[in-house]
Amino acid sequence: MAQTPLSMEPTGWYQVAWSNEIAIGDVHTMKYFSRDMVAWRAASGRLSVFDAYCEHLGAHLGYGGRVEGENLVCPFHGWQWNEQGRNVCIPYEKRPNKGRRIRSYPVVERNHAVWIWFDVDSRPPYFEVPDMFTAFGDDPSDADNYYPPIPGGTLFHKQRELHPQYIMENGVDFAHFKFVHQTPFMPEFTRHDFDGPVSYVDFTIAFEEGVTLETASSGVYSVNAGLGCSITKSWGMVENRTMPAVTPVDESTCDVRFTVWIGKKPGEEQATELTKYGKVMTDLVVEQFDNDVEIWSHQRYSDPPALSQREFKGFTALRNWAVQFYPGGDSSYGRDPARPESGAIVPLHPSAIAATA
Ligand code: FES
Ligand SMILES: [Fe+2]
Repeated sequence: MAQTPLSMEPTGWYQVAWSNEIAIGDVHTMKYFSRDMVAWRAASGRLSVFDAYCEHLGAHLGYGGRVEGENLVCPFHGWQWNEQGRNVCIPYEKRPNKGRRIRSYPVVERNHAVWIWFDVDSRPPYFEVPDMFTAFGDDPSDADNYYPPIPGGTLFHKQRELHPQYIMENGVDFAHFKFVHQTPFMPEFTRHDFDGPVSYVDFTIAFEEGVTLETASSGVYSVNAGLGCSITKSWGMVENRTMPAVTPVDESTCDVRFTVWIGKKPGEEQATELTKYGKVMTDLVVEQFDNDVEIWSHQRYSDPPALSQREFKGFTALRNWAVQFYPGGDSSYGRDPARPESGAIVPLHPSAIAATA
């Protein structure tokens, strides 16, 4: 295993939970971006995510903190904080402390998941979490044609030594499909372009033996919003949509979440949960993703990589696009600049040899 040389603080939306994990009144403790945080759900159902420590004397709100109506109450001296992190009540004073505010993070609940916006400079969100259906031009009611992905269609790996960018690179890595996913041919890209912080990667792919690129009639569309959020939709094969999400926990690890929607088979249109068929299909999709996770968890990020001729364009475009999410456009932000990013033995350039002679 090797710690990634990439910054663990790229700007964007990151999944920190599934919505059903945090019920009304829950105060959920978690750690992301090397910060202790709490997620809590008010009586109205609204979810908030805060830094974990009370601005009064620093109690951790996740240990004994409780929700009262629309406020979070600290266990230490009972100060109350509203959804913006503002102090609204000191139980033993006439007035709250209007000046103090706990850092709160923008939150969106979409695709059954909880997303927070993270930006080292606390800039507000400038792009959105794509909806699993409308982002592909589909009607939101199409969700009824899929088995509900919660709770049976998810995968969670805690604190793997990898980075969100690895997953994005995987989408343009046509050669790995044959080796990691045992596809009968190497997929061909039908689309790979960018729109600011969003990237689109579509390709032709098949899993049945004997199919060739020429005879294949199936593929995948994907929409990637920043480095933390990606959604895919299949066509021409078992109907599935997937949502891989990788979220930095600390300087060396990330939590990995994967959510799978499987299209209902004829006769099961009314199913309100995963059926046996749905589960079998889900497991097949999860297994493919898990094959990737196994590689990513142990890989050492190579920079510069030894790319083949055909790989050069896709990887270079992806890496150039990714730079925009790093603070100051520096993908090694917060990292030791002297750390090697590749183990390659690169011959010295003649001018460098001359300079040391
Ligand atoms: S530390 Fe939270 S109210 Fe005192
Ligand atoms: Fe893969």
